[in-house]
Amino acid sequence: MATPKRPNSWLKSVDSFGKRAFDLIVSGIALAVLSPLLLAIGLMVRLIDGAPILFFQKRPGKHGKIFRIVKFRTMKEASSSAIKSDEFRLTRLGKFLRATSLDELPELWNVFVGDMSFVGPRPLIVEYLPRYNSNQSRRHNIRPGITGLAQIHGRNQQSWEKRFEDDVWYVDHRNFALDLKILFITLYQVVRKEGISAQGFATMPEFFPSTNDVAEPANIEMSSAEINENDVAAVVKVVRSGRLALGPSVAEFEKNMAKYIGVKHAVAVSSGTAALHLIVKSLGIGPGDEVLVPSFTFAASVSAILYVGATPVFVDICTDTYNLDPADLERRRTSKTKAIMVVDVFGHSADWDSILSFAKKHQLLVIDDCCEALGAEYRGQKVGSFGNAGAFAFYPNKQITTGEGGMIVTNDDELARLCRSYRNQGRDEMGQWLDHARLGYNYRMDEMSGALGVSQLSRIESILLKRANVADMYNKRLANIPGVQLPVIKENMRMSWFVYVITLKEGLSASKLIRELDHRGIPSRAYFSPIHRQTYMAEHLTVTPILPVTDRLRDRTLALPFHNHMTREQVNSVARAIEEILSNKETTNTPVEMAY
Ligand SMILES: Cc1ncc(COP(=O)(O)O)c(C=O)c1O
Repeated sequence: MATPKRPNSWLKSVDSFGKRAFDLIVSGIALAVLSPLLLAIGLMVRLIDGAPILFFQKRPGKHGKIFRIVKFRTMKEASSSAIKSDEFRLTRLGKFLRATSLDELPELWNVFVGDMSFVGPRPLIVEYLPRYNSNQSRRHNIRPGITGLAQIHGRNQQSWEKRFEDDVWYVDHRNFALDLKILFITLYQVVRKEGISAQGFATMPEFFPSTNDVAEPANIEMSSAEINENDVAAVVKVVRSGRLALGPSVAEFEKNMAKYIGVKHAVAVSSGTAALHLIVKSLGIGPGDEVLVPSFTFAASVSAILYVGATPVFVDICTDTYNLDPADLERRRTSKTKAIMVVDVFGHSADWDSILSFAKKHQLLVIDDCCEALGAEYRGQKVGSFGNAGAFAFYPNKQITTGEGGMIVTNDDELARLCRSYRNQGRDEMGQWLDHARLGYNYRMDEMSGALGVSQLSRIESILLKRANVADMYNKRLANIPGVQLPVIKENMRMSWFVYVITLKEGLSASKLIRELDHRGIPSRAYFSPIHRQTYMAEHLTVTPILPVTDRLRDRTLALPFHNHMTREQVNSVARAIEEILSNKETTNTPVEMAY
């Protein structure tokens, strides 16, 4: 969620007074002007569907105080329980009234007497009141509205979490101009019949845990970016400005990233892979040089070394964090070793003290592939700020996203200058557009991505917190499942959860578990699949390296569905499926024991 701008209390009370005055005057006038229409609709309901004309229901108002919302009756029988889908009980006239939102007209009375406002979070049913978390319950800090931010964002297409996010955002940002905008958009959508009105509460259980905690597995996504209205507005603003490349948004994103990581320079590029490539190239690594790198990583850590004609030399990993094992560095070092490509795997920082002292002793360059670890810390210092330079990535499964995108971070002035030149076709900063000082690339980030990055980065802490909460739910739920090892987080580290990866005990097969989960509609991935065993590496490796820890993990690690807005219900579903599959209850046919 965006950091809310909270007006001071004096301004706030003037604002609230103005809002109430507007509601009172406009609803009074509207009731008077529309009274013939109200009477006509009332008469039609009475004649076609019989009594009663109006439908009353208890709803929570400001600070949870209960009031009775009033609408025209649209269903065959007025029932106080709206939990079940009411679609099938709608009368023909009711369908028309709902489609045109005319059934909501009597709510003008609720606005007039002060139960509601024209604009605010939509009042839901009383039964759900105790189930909001503390942030969500802030939607009750103000009067509920006939319409609101969630309504104009197509409430019926939004998840409940997104609707509540909109509601809370509105509570923090409301002002008169915003209310007018929401009202006009509502009227426009009503005229265009864009489905502003509620369709009962049939989908509510998606958001709230049901009693037996079973989710529809089909709803569980492997990853999902958190995009809010601020993000959308930021991108739209750039598109409207007409300045789509080489503009102020990328520069602002770079400035904010450098500040966040605590380094002098940040250079935005088109992907994490591009960031790694330019770092390796700008450090002068090339043919004849060896670079120490873990095999238990994403392909790009190794590709960047191969792009410049250098040789990757694989290093084994620690048995707990799966990060590069500093004790193995010495064994792999030769006279040709020029650099170490460190990877902060899954968002867990590497063991920087040991790595840096080894690098210093042997005068090696250090590159940090921190693409998975934005915000992770080692002894209170952000990853990316260790070594000569760090590379971040912003693909949509990352902690923050720019669509595609990456960032080089460094304290080295010369390295930053070279990276800026290489990303921009080899141009020097002061040179002419068609002067190319060196062979470069087009690895520039565009302005829409830059603006999205600024907006996303502004709420990085809240994003990291949400991810930590989901990881915590998984930790608790999976803790006692036999055969499953949980992720390990070492002391003095701040984990920035990128993926949630479990390890199966020796003898169990991750690929079979992945298949079984897939049969149940639950996505998961083999993560990582070591690079020295990938097909394309065959042409680069003369001998297969011996990496006992990496090889022992083969087909035993898998990433589970993981993103900011995963619910407890979804986590429970995944855990229950794993539990059942591993205990061989209800598996389709293949036992999960390894075939070899
Ligand atoms: C460790 C690591 N390095 C590099 C990258 C490459 O980033 P991109 O996909 O933006 O090129 C990734 C992406 O997932 C990664 O996980």
